[in-house]
Amino acid sequence: MTETANQETAKNGTENQEIIKKRIFSGIQPSGELTLGSYMGAIRNWKALQDQYDCVYCIVDLHTITVRQNPADLRRRCMTQLAQYIACGLDPEKCILFIQSHVPEHAELSWILGCYTQFGELSRMTQFKQKSQRHADNINAGLFTYPVLMAADILLYQADLVPVGADQKQHVELCRDIATRFNNIYGNIFTIPEPFIPEVGARIMSLNRPEDKMSKSDPEGCVFLLDKPEDIKRKFKRAVTDSDGRILYNPAEKPGVSNLLAIYSAATGENMPDIIARFDGQGYGQLKSAVGDTVIEILKPIREETERLLKDKKYLEEIYKAGAERASKIARKTLLKTHKKLGFLPR
Ligand code: TYM
Repeated sequence: MTETANQETAKNGTENQEIIKKRIFSGIQPSGELTLGSYMGAIRNWKALQDQYDCVYCIVDLHTITVRQNPADLRRRCMTQLAQYIACGLDPEKCILFIQSHVPEHAELSWILGCYTQFGELSRMTQFKQKSQRHADNINAGLFTYPVLMAADILLYQADLVPVGADQKQHVELCRDIATRFNNIYGNIFTIPEPFIPEVGARIMSLNRPEDKMSKSDPEGCVFLLDKPEDIKRKFKRAVTDSDGRILYNPAEKPGVSNLLAIYSAATGENMPDIIARFDGQGYGQLKSAVGDTVIEILKPIREETERLLKDKKYLEEIYKAGAERASKIARKTLLKTHKKLGFLPR
């Protein structure tokens, strides 16, 4: 048994049997409404894994203030995001759902890990380079040390697995490097996490600029989980394809069509050869409307359930408060362990 594994005792018939589950940690920024990209790249897997793993899912509001936010919008989005987590099928009985700023250990461990992270490592992060281009007037220190806070998120919970889209792979790899470095000096403090990146849906592209990732900053190329059916229909109808007319999966040469096929595959679970055979000989118009209709079907119950949950703020508050309490217990244990190793006097 590893120190990191979560132990539960379950009754199996007449005898007590110990079930040891591995732990998962992941999070999403409340920097905008949740998108089809974050659903297909991350949340879909969070849900699929919640029965086999001990899952901790976070709303990472500390990360979000690396870019200026309107406080009222941030508050509303955190609440909506929690409702959406639950509406997407994350069960608060099975997973810990909480808000990052409610567990101060994240910021505390982040400081410590920052002292074990090199300037050069952070300078090489693709997301930092992209974001500093996009927000050239506000290249703050938080934006630069963002991946250290992400490492703290993951390592506090001794996570074995981190389900994310492909764009976060580099950050998880840096987290592994930081943890390994720390462990090499102080012994086995942190579990070294593995990224869990889906085969299909790891990189959903923009509908109107299919060479770029689907992102909240580009509303026409992006489907939001709360979009109305008519908006989803319109966005798919206008999706950029190519003039070649053939239905083939080739992201380098046919990014638009390949993206539509990937979305369809992620939405239905069907494999690519079957999907291509099914649409073979049909026009792009038919493909776009089939993908749009499938996405509308998937998002309808999520939208309705989110709207229902948002009417019950008290319930949502109970969930995030209980989540923070449970998260804190785990996080505190790891933080105190690091304090001891570093030579800090006990509190
Ligand atoms: P964020 O908030 O940008 O995105 C949340 C998750 O959604 C995935 N994703 C996508 N997947 C496929 N296609 C897309 N177009 C797409 N857009 C987003 C992301 O890969 C991610 O999994 N730094 C993280 C948040 C974070 C975190 C963590 C994640 C903070 N701490 C600890 C894991 C563990 C971020 O900005 O994700």
